[in-house]
Amino acid sequence: MLKLGVNIDHVATLREARYRGRLAGEPCPVEAARISEAAGAHGITAHLREDRRHMQDRDIWKLREIVKTRLNLEMANTPEIVALALKLKPEIVCLVPERRQEVTTEGGLDVVANEKALTETCKKMRDAGIEVSLFIAPDAKQIEASARTGAQFIELHTGSFAEAFSKAESGKRKAETELERLITGAEQAHALGLKVNAGHGLNYENLPAMRRVPHLVELNIGHSIISRAVFVGLDKAVREMLALLRGKR
Ligand code: PXP
Repeated sequence: MLKLGVNIDHVATLREARYRGRLAGEPCPVEAARISEAAGAHGITAHLREDRRHMQDRDIWKLREIVKTRLNLEMANTPEIVALALKLKPEIVCLVPERRQEVTTEGGLDVVANEKALTETCKKMRDAGIEVSLFIAPDAKQIEASARTGAQFIELHTGSFAEAFSKAESGKRKAETELERLITGAEQAHALGLKVNAGHGLNYENLPAMRRVPHLVELNIGHSIISRAVFVGLDKAVREMLALLRGKR
């Protein structure tokens, strides 16, 4: 069954909007992880950014203590964060590009240009028993390079699909083209022995279309679930997304 990883970064973003620099504050991302797991989420994703703009180190360590499913640490491939991940030992890390100006992760990794550095990190993680996923665009060259790094997973960037999907009629053809790119990318990755996750910009409207993408293991979804939680509560927001994943709505 297709799995749901809940990205709780936006809970920390909201907390930091009021309590930046303090040792505690609401809403608590760790509590969000507890509620998401109790509602049936298959994994919890958190991004420890170099600038610590949302998740803080204390959140990540507490998450490591309480997450019972799978902790997916999103991170940049930098020495400081790699060293921290090796100590933290999440079940999996998802390597992403980080640009200071962006509000959330925008583009995919350039694995072709950074193959050597990424291969080294994959080896360190593998030796520590941590799986690696590379967040990339559905691009044939990036997928081929990803397979060479020794990563077990790729996470296909669904941002272009989601953006086209959200536009009225003019975007629909583009959304179909983007969906076809995701389908081709997933097939190519699977043939190369990679496991395939996907995420970014997925929501309650565009998610049913994603069921056409083959070989998917897990979808990582944050903004849309946390947004819906503001009105219906996190438990219900996660359960509704799970029902959609199962094709029940
Ligand atoms: N996957 C990755 C690698 C991400 O960086 C993010 C957040 O930017 C997501 C999934 C979740 O995206 P969203 O919050 O749009 O659901």
